[in-house]
Amino acid sequence: MHIQNNQLFLGKFSVKFLAEKFGTPLYVYEASTIRQQYLKLKKNIIYPKLQIHYACKANTNILILKLLQKLGSKIEAVSKGEIILALKADFKPKDIIYTSTSMTKEEMIFIVKSKVSINLDSLSQIELYGKINPNTKVGIRVNQGIGAGHHSHVITGGIMSKFGIPLEHLPKAIKLAKKYKLKIVRLHQHIGSNILDEKILLKAFDKLLETAVSFSDLESLDFGGGLGIPYLPKERDLNLKFLGLEMTKKMHSFSKKYGRELVLILEPGRFLVAQSGFLLATVTEIKNNPKRTFIGVDTGFNHLIRPAMYGSYHEIINATKTKGITVKADIVGNICESGDVFGRDRKISQVKIGDIIAILNAGAYGYVMASQYNSRPLPNQILIDGKKIIRLNK
Ligand code: LLP
Repeated sequence: MHIQNNQLFLGKFSVKFLAEKFGTPLYVYEASTIRQQYLKLKKNIIYPKLQIHYACKANTNILILKLLQKLGSKIEAVSKGEIILALKADFKPKDIIYTSTSMTKEEMIFIVKSKVSINLDSLSQIELYGKINPNTKVGIRVNQGIGAGHHSHVITGGIMSKFGIPLEHLPKAIKLAKKYKLKIVRLHQHIGSNILDEKILLKAFDKLLETAVSFSDLESLDFGGGLGIPYLPKERDLNLKFLGLEMTKKMHSFSKKYGRELVLILEPGRFLVAQSGFLLATVTEIKNNPKRTFIGVDTGFNHLIRPAMYGSYHEIINATKTKGITVKADIVGNICESGDVFGRDRKISQVKIGDIIAILNAGAYGYVMASQYNSRPLPNQILIDGKKIIRLNK
């Protein structure tokens, strides 16, 4: 994104042009940002045996999947639907790792038939998988009691979390795996989402290495995702350089102890795609009420639920007039609920009806979590890649 003549441009195109051509509400993604983020990870996490598995739950847009596939990413999937999409985007089954809770037998049979790798999340999953596909290699997801994240809903480690096998149950897990001749070749953990504190990530990393020592057949360690991005103006980027150096040091000293080098898997979702995405909407209403000003737009929490669901902050700008006299207002949607608020008390360059606003950092967990609540259709999506604008068919 850049500003030119007081207007927001995405790639080479003014938001005004995009909104006229494709209508609003509209999700726009900039391919260049996704490439940048992917390369940033590769550059900073210098451990030679690093494998990035994009957690595609963040955005399963097929164009984005294909873009990441071309960059060399692999996939982390959580459903049959995600596997089908990843295969459609040319990922090979061996490049897909599947991790899910509350799995049905049918899903498990599908995983086995698709030949993708699996991380088993519970003792009962080990049992079921062992019966269906004995004498094979598997991963297991552990819950080591460490959790973090931007909201309690997304903290996936610790006693309140349904995910993973608690450390106390690992002896049972090993026993069950033996019963079905399952070789545990991968330990997986994911402690939560949107973490900007390197220390907590490294603490969980240490713990995973500590746990790994009691497994003799490991080929890889899967640290999950969770790498955060700054949403709030006061937040800063994750110190990837520091994180990368520390992780690499720790992996090297672990390898010495363990006797061989393991592959290190990371499963970033948000980090790769959040900043590439913008939700564009048209201002449809301005209410200068006695005590508050409401700016109403032609989208709502049906299209971007993060503010309503987690109280998440997304920067909002007047894309058709980025600078000028500012007003303080609540930016609200068109859904019949009072919680349909994108931001309260936001300073925004004065808008008029027909202006386009842009909600930033909407590339992760935006469209994928959208619904047709109030029977309003899903927005269009476009990807901007250099001179090209590629429209996604719904
Ligand atoms: N790996 C596993 C096993 C996961 O469960 C997740 C996210 C990821 C990787 C990727 O996490 P990330 O790098 O994107 O933080 N809807 C929420 C986020 C839910 C994340 C769920 N699991 C939000 O909008 O903040």
